[in-house]
Amino acid sequence: MKNLFIAMAIGLISMGCCNNQPASQQKCCDDNCNQVIETIMARRSVRAYKDTPIEKELLDKVVECGIYAANALNAQQWEVRVVMSQEWINMATEAAKAAAKGTPAEAQYNDPSFKNIFRNAPAVIFIGHKPSAYTPVDCGLMAGNMMLAAKSLGLGTVCMASPVRTFLQQPVGASFLESLEFSEGFEPLLCIGIGYPDEEPAAKPRNKEVIKYVE
Ligand SMILES: Cc1cc2nc3c(=O)[nH]c(=O)nc-3n(C[C@H](O)[C@H](O)[C@H](O)COP(=O)(O)O)c2cc1C
Repeated sequence: MKNLFIAMAIGLISMGCCNNQPASQQKCCDDNCNQVIETIMARRSVRAYKDTPIEKELLDKVVECGIYAANALNAQQWEVRVVMSQEWINMATEAAKAAAKGTPAEAQYNDPSFKNIFRNAPAVIFIGHKPSAYTPVDCGLMAGNMMLAAKSLGLGTVCMASPVRTFLQQPVGASFLESLEFSEGFEPLLCIGIGYPDEEPAAKPRNKEVIKYVE
């Protein structure tokens, strides 16, 4: 009987989150849950957004949470640029489209749900760094803070490397990157599309076997 109780308890704990909730509202149902853990477990990359503009106060809070991330030596070798201009986003999209003409990348623009190259988000946060051994880690932690803060405020996000890489590699990207006005020696590393979500993606499976306790 005792073994049965233990097995039931382990079963409940390993379920992690209650699975009878919509993907975006999953709640933890073991004893070790709180709002932070629920936010972590409920965050998903969102690639469909409402056109509703985001209140600037919310963006302010999200980026402030970003700069409170842990970073090596507290050197803060990072910069943040927030683009809310639909004109900028549309022009960047048109430039990327033109650069992709005749290449396999062109196909993505024919998707009927396609709105822009930032996975359809109405605003984009660019994170740049002064490259050194630790700064990509710093920027990743910053992005993580921002995405969780956004989720906790009812916003969706998607972290993206490809639009930044496209602009760094294509001549057409230079003027857009320049317009972000990163300081001398800094360059963009990644960006985060952000907005009110218009989809509730299910969690992608995670491989728990990567975790091992060393005895
Ligand atoms: C460094 C980094 C770069 C990424 N680049 C892209 C990207 O260019 N385009 C995209 O749609 N998603 C991108 N993603 C999102 C991942 O595809 C996504 O996080 C992953 O599939 C797990 O899904 P989840 O975020 O919903 O848990 C990126 C994520 C990270 C952390």
